[in-house]
Amino acid sequence: VKRVTLRHLASKYTKKKPITMLTAYDYPSAVHVDQAGIDICLVGDSVGMVVHGHDTTLPVTMDDMLLHCRAVARGARRSLLVGDLPFGSYEQSPSQAVANATRLLKEGGMDAVKLEGGYGSRVTAAKAIVEAGIAVMGHVGLTPQAISALGGFRPQGQTSSGAKMVLEHALALQESGCFAIVLECLPSPVSAAITSALKIPTIGIGAGSKCSGQVLVYHDILGMMQHPHYVKVTPKFCKQYAQVGNIVNEALVSYREEVTNGTFPSRAHSPYQMDAAELDSFI
Ligand code: KIV
Ligand code: NA
Repeated sequence: VKRVTLRHLASKYTKKKPITMLTAYDYPSAVHVDQAGIDICLVGDSVGMVVHGHDTTLPVTMDDMLLHCRAVARGARRSLLVGDLPFGSYEQSPSQAVANATRLLKEGGMDAVKLEGGYGSRVTAAKAIVEAGIAVMGHVGLTPQAISALGGFRPQGQTSSGAKMVLEHALALQESGCFAIVLECLPSPVSAAITSALKIPTIGIGAGSKCSGQVLVYHDILGMMQHPHYVKVTPKFCKQYAQVGNIVNEALVSYREEVTNGTFPSRAHSPYQMDAAELDSFI
């Protein structure tokens, strides 16, 4: 199998064919994303929330990312692999950004990295990483790593000045050499305007249908969690293409019931034989 490359993505973009992207965090989810023919597999720092149970992405470390990146790289052979630079791993200096981006490729097996924000240190970081020969995906609009400053997970670009700011951030990231930009939680007309202003693909999440592609979180589209706490944080814009959590729950409850009432394991699941003679001398 041939790996999806930046050239494949550029060709899809030119032909106005939508680019598909999904997150994965481990070997099985990476195999599933790959087998579904998804163009880009993102090892998102959303791993902190959907896999590790944190309320935000802020606690995610480089070591966390590297562990998950390596597992995903073993599972996905065709999708382009993008790894998130976690909070605190790229904002201090271009050299910090380049060092950590390099680790995501060398140690994590990624093909590209993603970072959040289109201003100040984020733009110089993106530029330095691109200059180091590493492909960078940008991310503007709702940038979850800035939750402290944003005051919560809320839509962005809902005022004229807010929308202009997001557009400026996207243009700055394009200027810095990013190959694509995630647009998160924006009104559809704003992401449409940004998409037509740019000459690189936009990948939307909660940003309407006018982007060059779409991305969603693996656990969210699968309806993986029916735990009350999790239902509360599943985003409004996400379509659940299945309710896998219900299937998991039914299976686990059946297992518990069958062990409890003695119907598991039956003979069919007790496969190991012993010769009658051996058994006689054993007993
Ligand atoms: O971490 C993540 O899953 C992301 C996507 C939602 C774009 O950054
Ligand atoms: Na992320």
